[in-house]
Amino acid sequence: MNIPIYFATVTGNSRDLAERAERKLKALGFDAEARDLATESAESLRGQATALFIASTWGDGEPPDDAIDYVARLQSDEPLDLAGLQYSVCALGDTGYEIFCGCGKTIDERLERHGATRLAPRVDCDVDFLDLFETWIEAVKHALDARRLAVS
Ligand SMILES: Cc1cc2nc3c(=O)[nH]c(=O)nc-3n(C[C@H](O)[C@H](O)[C@H](O)COP(=O)(O)O)c2cc1C
Repeated sequence: MNIPIYFATVTGNSRDLAERAERKLKALGFDAEARDLATESAESLRGQATALFIASTWGDGEPPDDAIDYVARLQSDEPLDLAGLQYSVCALGDTGYEIFCGCGKTIDERLERHGATRLAPRVDCDVDFLDLFETWIEAVKHALDARRLAVS
C-alpha cells in the first residue's frame, strides 16, 4: 500500500522531515514516498487509504505560498468524500507567532470535516522540531503496524 508523505514548505524543514519519515517507513517495509503538496491536488486524496502531512506555517498563519490552493480546496465545503482515508499531520511553526502552526491545524481539521479519520494525533512543533517529529513518526509507525497486523 502506497503511503504518501505530503510536505508543504518554504525553507525545506518540512521536506527534510518528510524524507526522513520516508526512510523510516521504508525500513519497516512500507511503500512510503515524500511528495510536494505544491504539485498535488486535494482531489487525489479520494480513494486513498493513507496520507501523512508535514506542513509549515508562514505569513500570518498562512500555508506556504505554493500550498495555498491545496489548502483552500480543503477549506471549501464542496464535498471531497474522504471516508476511506486515514491520515496524520505533523505541523511545523514557531510559538513566537500569533497563529501557531495554523496551516497544519487547518489541514488536520479540514480532513476530518471531509470524512477522513486520524491514524495518529497531530503534533504541533516549535522551532526545535526534531524531538516532537520523532514522537509523531513513532506514533504513526505503531498505528500502521497495528493496522497491518489487523489485516494479515
Ligand atoms: C516570515 C515568517 C513567517 C512565519 N509565520 C509563522 C506563523 O504565522 N505561525 C507559525 O507557527 N510559524 C511561522 N513561521 C515559522 C515557520 O513555520 C518555521 O520556521 C518552520 O520550521 C518553517 O518550515 P519550512 O522550512 O518547512 O517552511 C514563520 C517563519 C517566518 C520566517
